[in-house]
Amino acid sequence: MAIPEVQLRIAALRQEIEHHNYQYYVLDTPSVPDAEYDRLWRELQELETAHPELVSADSPTQRVGAAPLAAFSQITHRQPMLSLNNAFGDAEVAAFDKRVRDALGRAEGEVEYAVEPKFDGLAISLTYEKGRFVSAATRGDGSTGEDVSANLRTIKSVPLQIDTDASLLEVRGEVLMFRRDFERMNDAQRARGDKEYMNPRNAAAGSLRQLDSKITASRRLHFFVYGIGASEGWPSVESHAAVLNRLAELRFPVSEERAVVQGLDGLLAYYQRLGERRPALPYDIDGVVYKVNSLADQTKLGFVSRAPRFAIAHKFAAEEALTTVQDIQVQVGRTGALTPVAHLAPVFVGGVTVVHATLHNQDEIDRKDVRIGDTVIVRRAGDVIPEVVAVVTEKRSVPEPARFNILAQYPRCPVCGSHVERLPDEAVARCTGGLFCPAQRREALLHFAARRALDIDGLGDKLVDQLVERGLVHTPADLYGLSFFTLASLDRMAEKSANNLLAAIEKSKTTTLARFIFGLGIRTVGEATAKDLARHFGSLNALMQADVQNLLQVRDVGPIVAQGITQFFAEPHNREVIHGLRAAGVHWPEVTHSLQTTGMLSGKSFVLTGTLPTMTRDEAKEKIEAAGGKITGSVSLKTDFVVAGVEAGSKLAKAHTLGIKVLDEPALLALLEKALSPHGSA
Ligand code: IVH
Repeated sequence: MAIPEVQLRIAALRQEIEHHNYQYYVLDTPSVPDAEYDRLWRELQELETAHPELVSADSPTQRVGAAPLAAFSQITHRQPMLSLNNAFGDAEVAAFDKRVRDALGRAEGEVEYAVEPKFDGLAISLTYEKGRFVSAATRGDGSTGEDVSANLRTIKSVPLQIDTDASLLEVRGEVLMFRRDFERMNDAQRARGDKEYMNPRNAAAGSLRQLDSKITASRRLHFFVYGIGASEGWPSVESHAAVLNRLAELRFPVSEERAVVQGLDGLLAYYQRLGERRPALPYDIDGVVYKVNSLADQTKLGFVSRAPRFAIAHKFAAEEALTTVQDIQVQVGRTGALTPVAHLAPVFVGGVTVVHATLHNQDEIDRKDVRIGDTVIVRRAGDVIPEVVAVVTEKRSVPEPARFNILAQYPRCPVCGSHVERLPDEAVARCTGGLFCPAQRREALLHFAARRALDIDGLGDKLVDQLVERGLVHTPADLYGLSFFTLASLDRMAEKSANNLLAAIEKSKTTTLARFIFGLGIRTVGEATAKDLARHFGSLNALMQADVQNLLQVRDVGPIVAQGITQFFAEPHNREVIHGLRAAGVHWPEVTHSLQTTGMLSGKSFVLTGTLPTMTRDEAKEKIEAAGGKITGSVSLKTDFVVAGVEAGSKLAKAHTLGIKVLDEPALLALLEKALSPHGSA
């Protein structure tokens, strides 16, 4: 290609790439597949590499960051960047509207206002000369700020070229980070062991004030425009809303949340509306800004000291505040999880007085290193549970308070006194008093009654709530003591349903060992494991006596599950509840094929010969095997018993020769009965 052609192609590519940037970063509606975008990008980059003399600062290839600076230089704003006065509460807004009306000589409701979010980021002034981005500066002291041009260039929603006749234009707006990008960035910082940022605003500030603009380029920053500063050749428009519309036409990112309203009522309604939308916005705002819409009226109103008289910020209640941690206690949840809670010196935040804030779990305490006595930042956004965001370590007392450890502080559950444990793969510490702990009662009862457990039909959560709240049921064993009159006295319980429930409770007494084990609600034991345990141990006593080594013999049971089981049965409260259930008549057939390894017929060898009077061969075989014995085909010195029926032949003769014990059917049944009875298996 000849040079003029290359120039044309480069210009076309730049325009197309910036168009896609605009679609993607400003309008949030991508217009091409990533691969096509990448292709355009590569073509431009190759042409620029081949023709370095054609590279210009406003090429999209220059958005990746420039060489690091030694220091920021200063930029003087052509028109100072002012601040806004704040209004807290409707009365202060009413006073603002009245001042405006008095100065302009208007009646109530006669002033039109442009209203917009108050973005919680950093103020930036962009300078365009003849439509080209030339520099960007922070607010600084209002008249002079820091030159962050290289950094702003990396923000893809900031246009590098605008289509305007204005020879000079200062565009004012706010750089911020979306909450999801903030979370993602902090995850990455944490993974690398780097310092985390406290909130999106600090993260935006930290990302922007980088001497190495490549770092800025790697962070996802957004920009919203809310006005202009100095201008030359800028078309005169009548209102602030028109200015914003004009900026939007020039492809600047302008908030879709902006509006024009009438009078005080309009202001307050907008405040209410945006306050409700606030949690759904992808970025933080800390209030709304009201501006007299007419630019002529703005000029009439003028300024007081460093703030305009024509505008005011109506702030939302602060979502973060400083306070001190007076104590750390734990709350026991319905699954037994111990949640550490900071008890705070009362502080007004997010519109309410907060005295408690969650610390989530031990890992969070460690990560934030929260200690009793610390000064902390508490956050309460919307209806979210207040949480401790960070510790102000500079304010920590000397000597330092000790680190806080849940297990050390609470070896026992503060609600029921059972042991507290933390399984190796779990984030939370838990109370082991499952069946017994009042905090876990409701959940334990529902689990116990579930269809796949004891299957008590009709015992749903509404009923369980009533039984627990009225103190009628403390543990599953208490279910079996409920009378008709008690049940019939509950809300929404007719005679018929009380009877049905009683019948269901009665029916549940006859169950299986697997269901019973599952119903106990041992945290590490699901339905499948319960079945495996039942099959392996055959009796509850054997399971309760098993140690970790025994448990590890069971299919799919690993060290964590085994430990969970032994800890559960080690808890005296849990054993009491089990005892209560058995005493109430809950029972199951104790399957005893576990005697294969432990029973008295374990390893005994049987030979069957002849026809037994009542049992078939298969039945006899099954019974013997169930008791742990094994059947072999021929009689040898290793044979323990020969079971002989009618027409027994050579095998019986051989048994006599070798002196092996011979059993007839009644003798076999007697032996099996002895082996299968609980005493026999001991
Ligand atoms: S107008 C002359 N509009 O709030 C008034 N400011 O306290 C110039 N801010 O430094 C500001 N959102 O960083 C305006 N929609 C908005 C704003 C906004 C956030 C910030 C801005 C300014 C501070 C004033």
